[in-house]
Amino acid sequence: MPEPFPVEELTIVRLKPGISVEKFDCNDPDLNDFIRNDAFVYAEKKLAQTFIALYKNEPIAFISVCTDAIRLGMKERKDEFGKEKPHADYPGIKVARLATATPHQNRGVGAFLVKYIIGKAIAISEEVGCRFVTVDAYPAQLKFYTGLGFVRNLSDGSGANVSMRLDIYQWNRQVEKAIPSQPPAPKSA
Ligand SMILES: CC(C)(COP(=O)(O)OP(=O)(O)OC[C@H]1O[C@@H](n2cnc3c(N)ncnc32)[C@H](O)[C@@H]1OP(=O)(O)O)[C@@H](O)C(=O)NCCC(=O)NCCS
Repeated sequence: MPEPFPVEELTIVRLKPGISVEKFDCNDPDLNDFIRNDAFVYAEKKLAQTFIALYKNEPIAFISVCTDAIRLGMKERKDEFGKEKPHADYPGIKVARLATATPHQNRGVGAFLVKYIIGKAIAISEEVGCRFVTVDAYPAQLKFYTGLGFVRNLSDGSGANVSMRLDIYQWNRQVEKAIPSQPPAPKSA
């Protein structure tokens, strides 16, 4: 098993001109092409924003995100929202692209970037309705996303990729339960 990456030494920056990504290589031609050529255009045209993980000023991973809306089936709505008024679509932030440079794969960097976006989605949800982080996962990466808490969207089975979601409301509640914001009250005598 490769050594865990020292993620505390990563700097996350939004992609902007001046950040050199020409040499980024994750062994996937589409994703290499995206980061080297398309990501700047997507950012400028407000189609997706890309965040780069820099280690010693070198880009070693990136995650690209945009807004999304997902349609849930009856059962999923019932499980997730109980008796709430059902909606046609539910708002979210989509992980549009994710890649770690080949030498650093399987060391926890990809998981770190997904968690970074979950944190961003939670912050955004205080200002704009946002309930899920979504992804159309490569079938080969299903285990990676289920490990992070994503589940398959039952109603969306089209295409080669697997439509998935993570409920940030539930995720946040679990984190709050695990890390109470208030210290426990002192015991009375
Ligand atoms: C898919 C991809 C983005 C994952 O990124 P990554 O940095 O390799 O991911 P992580 O290291 O966080 O997690 C990968 C595995 O390492 C394990 N891992 C996580 N933290 C770890 C740590 N600290 N030390 C060692 N291994 C760790 C995870 O358990 C995970 O295992 P699993 O997927 O078998 O459950 C990366 O492999 C990649 O760029 N692949 C090519 C492009 C691609 O497929 N993109 C995905 C599109 S959906």
